[in-house]
Amino acid sequence: MEKIQEELINLYELACKIRENAYAPYSKFRVGAVLKTKSGKIYTASNVENASFSLTACAERIAIFKAVNEGEREFNIIAICGDKEVFPCGACLQVMNEFSPEIKILLKINDKLKIFELKELLPYGFKKDFFL
Ligand code: THU
Repeated sequence: MEKIQEELINLYELACKIRENAYAPYSKFRVGAVLKTKSGKIYTASNVENASFSLTACAERIAIFKAVNEGEREFNIIAICGDKEVFPCGACLQVMNEFSPEIKILLKINDKLKIFELKELLPYGFKKDFFL
């Protein structure tokens, strides 16, 4: 098996493992995310819900905020594993767009690992050029 392929499988499998840490008693829909920075570091997260539903935080955003708080700003790829097939929500796409418009998004769709470009999922994201 090609090396890059193996790395993708490992990233995705780690996201599925991390998903087990989710706190999702309300939706019962667990999501795990693994973010790889351009410098090669890995940040992981799963979703955290709240009885006050709107306070719920997605796995993807928690992973990105962890990384940003460690000083990271540039991301290569994010692997996302849900209890069922999942695409990242618009809010998470917007947060990805803030830091790394070139980020790749690794998902399992129709039982196959697939890499999406952020631009495919968020072609017209809001950006600072609009107001600066
Ligand atoms: N969720 C994520 O963690 N990431 C997504 O991309 C979509 C939704 C979580 C939020 C909530 O805890 C549960 O999935 C159901 O919406």
